Amino acid sequence: MSSSDPEIQSEAPTGAPVSKCPFLRGAVSVPAADSRPITQRLKEDNWDLHEQAEHDRVPQAMVKGEMSREGYVELLKQMWVVNKGLDAALVNARATTPIINDLVSDRQLQEQYLRADLEHFGVDVETIETTDAARTMLGHVATLSERDGHALFGLHYVREGANNGNKFVAMKLKKAWGLEPECTDGFNYLDPYGKDQRPLWEDWKSRLADYPLTDPEKDSVFAGARSMFERIIALHQDLESLALA
Ligand code: HEM
Repeated sequence: MSSSDPEIQSEAPTGAPVSKCPFLRGAVSVPAADSRPITQRLKEDNWDLHEQAEHDRVPQAMVKGEMSREGYVELLKQMWVVNKGLDAALVNARATTPIINDLVSDRQLQEQYLRADLEHFGVDVETIETTDAARTMLGHVATLSERDGHALFGLHYVREGANNGNKFVAMKLKKAWGLEPECTDGFNYLDPYGKDQRPLWEDWKSRLADYPLTDPEKDSVFAGARSMFERIIALHQDLESLALA
């Protein structure tokens, strides 16, 4: 972002502000703040990780309808583990981090959907064994809970945004398994909002774009989002042997 006072700074070609003071020029480096709405930055600057997340073996097996029900259940189990932990951390952080209080609704908490899906498939959630990647993600959630509520919110942005693609994945799996498109049993997690998905996402995104955040808070949300992409990719890769067997 260029300064509003042209006497103080001018815009370098790279976008980094340059001091007009000859003594300071070249001696200090002031990181440029990002003037884009946080939502634009989250989408544009994470698209590299989205490409990877979308094209890994586990999501591709789902989208091609090549995943068995057994494999899908293994995936749901670990998603239950990590999203239960993330839900609890977010609910706790409502008291200290206003953006979490204002933008994370009970309807967006995901454990409820995963529990319903697992019950449908006859899984007792108390018997689920946590994989290494899920344990690592829970550790990450715990660390951010203690240190950085905005980064914690960044984790939530990714799982909420992932509903856009998950709805499509659910459609493909239902087709491959010979189920009616309207079937919701076992698909609450992939498609929690049904026909409301798109309007809810657009409304939520515009509230996030308008939400007052300082530059460091925006950086934290962004860093949290990137870390969530990386953890989900790791979780999917860790599940390859179980979910694609
Ligand atoms: C087969 C797998 C996937 C498909 C087909 C897919 C597809 C999509 C589509 C169509 C959108 C909407 C883009 C738009 O509004 O312009 C989207 C958004 C998004 N997806 Fe995925 N996706 C997949 C996997 C994932 C995974 C695994 C993650 C998380 C690790 C993820 C995270 C997101 C996020 C955060 C957004 C919101 C981007 C924004 O800020 O607008 N997606 N995806």
